Amino acid sequence: NRKVTTHRLQEMKQRGEKISMLTAYDYSMASIVDQAGMDVILVGDSASNVMAGNTTTLPMTLDQMIYHGKSVVNGVKRALVIVDMPFGSCSGNPTLSLEAAIRVMKETGADALKIEGGKEIIADIKKIIDAGIPVMGHLGLMPQSINKYGTYAVRAKDGAEADKLMADATLLQEVGCFGIVLEKIPATLAEQVAKELAIPMIGIGAGGGVDGQVLVIHDMLGINKDFSPKFLRRYADLHTMMSQAVQSYIKDVKESDFPNEKESY
Ligand code: KIV
Ligand code: NA
Repeated sequence: NRKVTTHRLQEMKQRGEKISMLTAYDYSMASIVDQAGMDVILVGDSASNVMAGNTTTLPMTLDQMIYHGKSVVNGVKRALVIVDMPFGSCSGNPTLSLEAAIRVMKETGADALKIEGGKEIIADIKKIIDAGIPVMGHLGLMPQSINKYGTYAVRAKDGAEADKLMADATLLQEVGCFGIVLEKIPATLAEQVAKELAIPMIGIGAGGGVDGQVLVIHDMLGINKDFSPKFLRRYADLHTMMSQAVQSYIKDVKESDFPNEKESY
């Protein structure tokens, strides 16, 4: 049960073993996910949505990512922990980007970072990797660019955007990224990228032809009731379970059933 490394993900791709990845944002959840045997835990900037209740990931700050990152690292023994660089922290000024990246690595103890984007920020990514920090890329639907797209619809359906995605993926591999998240793109394109590149492709809404899968934990546990894209599979209905537990507690308090004698000092 040794610690998962970026090198180990490479080996898993080579021998065709699929990589499991899930988000977590706090100590308690991360402990459960790690002890269940997850390969990779992503401290996603989706914390903006599921932890903070924002409608986009844009408000997330570096300090907030560091708070979540440190909390997750405290709960993890085996999984590789990756922290998302938030919107604006890696945007075409390599010196500032490296400074931000170093802060996250130092203050969280995470193993690696994930950064949205391709060619436009390749100098930033190269500088961070050259400083010794492992970076995972993120292409396809990039939620930090939602104001540019105007929609969370499937990306790279046309030839031009698919070509750019393939070129960006190749570029990310060339500068030394250890893997790439492919979000919400056609399964055929994702499979083609996974076949053509040596580094692992982790899909979300990208079909089964990639090297691993990632989901947002609140979505797959059914804590979110109102988010049901086609790609999501729900493995539990925690919304109902939690709601019922909370209602039972309210009832017991109101009826003076809780606490009873055994629960008192
Ligand atoms: O922030 C996040 O949760 C992510 C995954 C959906 C890949 O980036
Ligand atoms: Na993210």
